[in-house]
Amino acid sequence: MTDIELLEMAANARENAHVPYSKFRVGAAIVTKNGNVYTGCNIECSSYGISICAERVALVKAVSAGEKEFDKIAVVGGLENSLTYTSPCGACRQFLSDFGEMKVILGYKENEEWKKKEFELKDLLPEIFLL
Ligand code: THU
Repeated sequence: MTDIELLEMAANARENAHVPYSKFRVGAAIVTKNGNVYTGCNIECSSYGISICAERVALVKAVSAGEKEFDKIAVVGGLENSLTYTSPCGACRQFLSDFGEMKVILGYKENEEWKKKEFELKDLLPEIFLL
């Protein structure tokens, strides 16, 4: 699974974002160590605080299917016609980190070409709390 393939899957999942409040659509695609991919989009709620991010939707789909080991997660987000690099929020960084190290690929498509950045999850959340 290449980074670009994973970003394309995140971009497709982004189409399903339910964002009546922010209009900020996010898609994520997480790939397991053995190559299975799970996607997610953000889903907002009229009780704003219980809205859920795309990254956590992808992760909970994977974990609830029995997956526990991840290689990388791709995230694509932005307002309707202005994609930007969208970096996982603090809650998602913690949630993902509970399942160990993985790569985080951020990207957006400009003039049919993907721009991307890659991080190690541990670098996005230094001195993390773990039980
Ligand atoms: N959001 C995500 O889904 N992932 C991120 O990495 C950042 C933020 C969502 C939450 C909310 O639905 C919208 O984007 C605006 O914050």
